[in-house]
Amino acid sequence: MAKDYKRYLITSALPYANGPVHIGHLAGVYVPSDIYTRYMRLKGRDVISICGSDEHGVPITIKARKEGVTPQQIVDRYHNIIKNAFEGLGISFDIYSRTSSPTHAKTASDFFRKLYDEGKFIEKSSMQYYDEEAKTFLADRYIVGTCPRCQSEGAYGDQCEKCGSTLSPDELINPRSAVSGAVPVKRETKHWYLPLDQHEEALRKWILEGHKEWKSNVYGQCKSWLDGGLLPRAVSRDLDWGIPVPVEGAEGKVLYVWFDAPIGYISATKDLTPDWEKYWKSEDTKMVHFIGKDNIVFHCIVFPSMLMAHGGYILPENVPANEFLNLEGDKISTSRNWAVWLHEYLEDMPGKEDVLRYVLCANAPETKDNDFTWKDYQARNNNELVAVLGNFVNRALVLTKKYYDGVVPACGELTDYDRETIAEMSQIKASLEANLENYRFREALKDAMNVARIGNKYLADTEPWKLIKTDTERVKTILNIALQITANLAIVCEPFMPFTAAKILKMLAVEHLDWERIGDMSLIEAGHKIGEPSLLFEKIEDDVIQKQLDKLEAAKQANLAAAAAEAPVEPQKENISFDDFGKADIRVSTILSAERVPKTKKLLHLTVDTGIDTRELVSGIAEFFSPEELVGQQVLVLVNLEPREIKGILSRGMILMGEDATGKLVLLQPSSKVGSGSIVG
Ligand code: 2FM
Ligand code: ZN
Repeated sequence: MAKDYKRYLITSALPYANGPVHIGHLAGVYVPSDIYTRYMRLKGRDVISICGSDEHGVPITIKARKEGVTPQQIVDRYHNIIKNAFEGLGISFDIYSRTSSPTHAKTASDFFRKLYDEGKFIEKSSMQYYDEEAKTFLADRYIVGTCPRCQSEGAYGDQCEKCGSTLSPDELINPRSAVSGAVPVKRETKHWYLPLDQHEEALRKWILEGHKEWKSNVYGQCKSWLDGGLLPRAVSRDLDWGIPVPVEGAEGKVLYVWFDAPIGYISATKDLTPDWEKYWKSEDTKMVHFIGKDNIVFHCIVFPSMLMAHGGYILPENVPANEFLNLEGDKISTSRNWAVWLHEYLEDMPGKEDVLRYVLCANAPETKDNDFTWKDYQARNNNELVAVLGNFVNRALVLTKKYYDGVVPACGELTDYDRETIAEMSQIKASLEANLENYRFREALKDAMNVARIGNKYLADTEPWKLIKTDTERVKTILNIALQITANLAIVCEPFMPFTAAKILKMLAVEHLDWERIGDMSLIEAGHKIGEPSLLFEKIEDDVIQKQLDKLEAAKQANLAAAAAEAPVEPQKENISFDDFGKADIRVSTILSAERVPKTKKLLHLTVDTGIDTRELVSGIAEFFSPEELVGQQVLVLVNLEPREIKGILSRGMILMGEDATGKLVLLQPSSKVGSGSIVG
């Protein structure tokens, strides 16, 4: 039997305030947590939903340094962008706090101090990289070098972003300080470690024996961490941005961001209510952490160990972590700007908040990574929201307006088909609630949309627009039933699409409908006058989608250009003699005709005027140039290259091309037209 909890504490991963939030964050964490929270509220439960900005950590200091501003300016900027964007999408946290708040500094500091005073930490000195020029220890992110796995430059001390390998600073080839560029030296430094190994047994019992019902991705990750054996973990860092370690002799040291951030959930609750302890310290509270899969270890192993070491706090009852959302087949990446940013979406697509909520829930990466594509977004809007949900509600309301001037007609005698429809409606609630309670939000959304499908089918089958000519009494019953289904839709949509739910209520001219009445077919009384119908959703045309795709393409091009600018230049080849060079005969030539070589992807068959003669060439440039754009262009041709037969064509020479670091080819041309045959050399 599931335990009856008195109250619910819902936390959503605190987003880092070093950039805006994107659809990956939303699909993984914030849309599901908001659906769950709204559902709890609709059930009349005592629930609070907690979130805020995670404002410490090295990436924030790196960004500040790059931009020449303070870390505080960076977090102020993004905290506001993120907070406003969440509000814009209807993410209804009870508080959106921040870890640079005074409440948080005190809470995190006291938490550390209690563990310190009780001897719960291990103090250990170790050799760490130190920048003698900048006079600072270097966090892993501050050390760059060559990746030992893929040999690419610019790998960080904790990760290579090119090949995705997790690294330690000692593995980097030619390590350098990202602060000054200096070669770092090793220096001794002291840190405090939380002995996770001491909590291993308790964690095993709690998770592996006590929470077999957790999602398999979460349970599996916990099991593999526990089976691998836990080690003490450093909870302090040498850094000047963060919460100072509250211990004498710890100057220049701050709490590790992953020590302070989860305590942010506690401090945010304190900022929300003086009654915060009843949420954190009572076994009657059910705590649920909504996070992405990269946060599992911190929420299931590290933070619980901290809470156990401290004592007096409850542990999460569930951690329904999601997998990742990709974008157009590629990993979402902040640094590559490969993302749909929420604040930009809200600007580009005003009034379409629920469309995004709908698509991200319908396509949520609940059990595996998933892909967001703009075409899918368009299809779901046009084929599901417009054609099913919007269409049904509109027909029910417009017909009521037309036939009865908006006054709800009475329900007369029911047919067997009416009874079947009503019976179907009565099944929705149980399934919807079971799915919501168990974090199966995609299935839950299907249940909600089923109400619209039932309604659409009901109208299509009963055809009141035809019957109005022959059986006006029957039409009254049909529209009464259709309006009851519409009212049900207003209730079931609320957790997923709150803006739409509010619009339906407004069109029905009803203030509120109780969640517990889902399935009730007498929600709207006969004689009640409904409001003005308007469209719930609009069809999205191709040009709107194309604009978004163009934006992504521009990001891709900008990345390629940046990569090309950064890529190392090929080393110089061996010297050649002047005579060797003199042997090469290069002529300005004019392309007279160009066509693809059949059954090849890369080859073009060209005819060129070399000034000496007209000759044929085969060139592997078809991926970069269309035949049409080449005709008439002047190019440089090495004309005395040994002729070669390629695909049955005798190629007499080679066009000289420029190539950038990404492999993109460009034509090398005289800066103004010269006669064909002009010598290059
Ligand atoms: O991964 C992240 O975005 C972290 N900022 C999440 C922190 S969650 C919590 F512990 F605060
Ligand atoms: Zn690498």
